[in-house]
Amino acid sequence: MTMSSFVLLLSGLLCAANAEALYPETVLRPPSLLHDFQKNNISTSWAPGHPKEWSDKEALRYEFSDGGPYRYTSGAIFATALSSDEKFLVTVNTSNHVSVVDFATGTQVFDCTLSSTYQAEYRAVRILTGSSGYDVLVSMNYQEVQKLHLSPQGGYLGNVTVYPGGLLYEKGSPSISHNERLFITAVPTAGQYNIYNLDDPSVHLTLNNQPDDMYDASITPNDAYVVTRSYSYSGMPGSTKMWSATTGALLRDFNNTNSETLAISPDGTLLVTSLSREAVQLWSLTNATAPPTTLPFPEQTNGVQRLAWSPDGTYLAVGTYKNLLVWKLSPAPTLIQWYQIEANGHDVSGLLWLEDSKRLAYRVFGGLEIYDFESNLKYRWGSSPNSHWVDGAYMVENTILAKGKGWIGGLDGDAKVRFWEVPA
Ligand SMILES: *[C@@H]1O[C@H](CO)[C@@H](O)[C@H](O)[C@H]1NC(C)=O
Ligand SMILES: *[C@@H]1O[C@H](CO)[C@@H](O)[C@H](O)[C@H]1NC(C)=O
Ligand SMILES: *[C@@H]1O[C@H](CO)[C@@H](O)[C@H](O)[C@H]1NC(C)=O
Ligand SMILES: *[C@@H]1O[C@H](CO)[C@@H](O)[C@H](O)[C@H]1NC(C)=O
Ligand SMILES: *[C@@H]1O[C@H](CO)[C@@H](O)[C@H](O)[C@H]1NC(C)=O
Repeated sequence: MTMSSFVLLLSGLLCAANAEALYPETVLRPPSLLHDFQKNNISTSWAPGHPKEWSDKEALRYEFSDGGPYRYTSGAIFATALSSDEKFLVTVNTSNHVSVVDFATGTQVFDCTLSSTYQAEYRAVRILTGSSGYDVLVSMNYQEVQKLHLSPQGGYLGNVTVYPGGLLYEKGSPSISHNERLFITAVPTAGQYNIYNLDDPSVHLTLNNQPDDMYDASITPNDAYVVTRSYSYSGMPGSTKMWSATTGALLRDFNNTNSETLAISPDGTLLVTSLSREAVQLWSLTNATAPPTTLPFPEQTNGVQRLAWSPDGTYLAVGTYKNLLVWKLSPAPTLIQWYQIEANGHDVSGLLWLEDSKRLAYRVFGGLEIYDFESNLKYRWGSSPNSHWVDGAYMVENTILAKGKGWIGGLDGDAKVRFWEVPA
């Protein structure tokens, strides 16, 4: 053995050892299920051919990588987003290389490397559609957001604009308004959220919420109001506040809701906030004196990842550490599904409703799964002992539905962007 091959071998071993140390509970087997989805008391089962592997050639429709195959080495894609018209996919890798890809052909139409002292965060890229083209926002670790303005053909126009703070990504907040013209950043050093308007550089609203270590916000469907929250793990009480998204005026103070995450209902009348690790609370946005309704979890959890209303407002899905809970809200809130995996350090996150409330997609244990409420079947694309899979949902919860193509996917467990055909 030559010295160089020995060094290579040794460094390979060290990398493997580091991965083990960072992710001690890595096990290449699916976790045991303690509770599963069910319909009429019959447990769900896998759809024919499932679970499938990430690379399953029969199901795979689109695959894109940028420089490297493995998340913890070079070149891995950290974040991805698809424009709402499904024309352009944008990816960012670990060296802040931005690539804009024509989603119809899979060819790159623009790329650049952003110059920054900081590294782009996982999940923290957006592409917004406007009348004069597209705006790509890349968030660097709550330090700065860089904006690139692209033409309707995806070409680059003008200079990079830098905004203070970061997009709200930890809990999967879109951080953008429904009309895709406003975006929200959090500026931890200043203890505030900022709102900017992409069409009007003079708009810069400041919302004073105290500093802490996790941010989330939700905008009403008409883009008129925004609710922000902050939560302090260091002993300071958190706060949840409702503001005008056009003037920045404080409209309502919910005080400390003890929430990690929040979401406004599709009709704009209800706000759901998590309540510590024990429940969620529903607040009326039309009656400020009405007390909240509390929906307790069947078991205390260890962190709430995501609150997802079904598009028709019929159901509320809650992804937490180990659990996925679904309530039917009318006539009275009822817990109708409880999915739970064994305690091996994995969150259930990346919730996305499909076909209104017929199916629910979620990320768990390094994979993407869908539960179909009508057929009572589950689908999965995910890791196998042969894949480059390392850990669970934490860094891979960019789930994207490309409706026009009938594909579902996004960033997967080995830092590639992959889409599969949505099963009929
Ligand atoms: C499901 O099972 C539970 C407990 O065994 C029972 O109380 C309930 O009535 C059953 N529901 C249906 C829809 O069969
Ligand atoms: C990011 O992508 C670019 C272009 O593919 C590549 O040159 C660069 O090496 C990648 N970054 C890393 C850290 O590998
Ligand atoms: C880009 O920045 C340079 C230097 O500040 C300036 O001269 C130029 O006009 C800018 N271009 C656009 C399109 O804004
Ligand atoms: C928030 O605190 C203020 C001042 O203590 C109080 O007047 C108000 O009722 C509280 N609001 C809620 C929703 O608890
Ligand atoms: C608002 O809620 C309060 C407290 O539950 C209730 O007394 C009041 O009638 C409600 N107002 C309206 C307009 O529904």
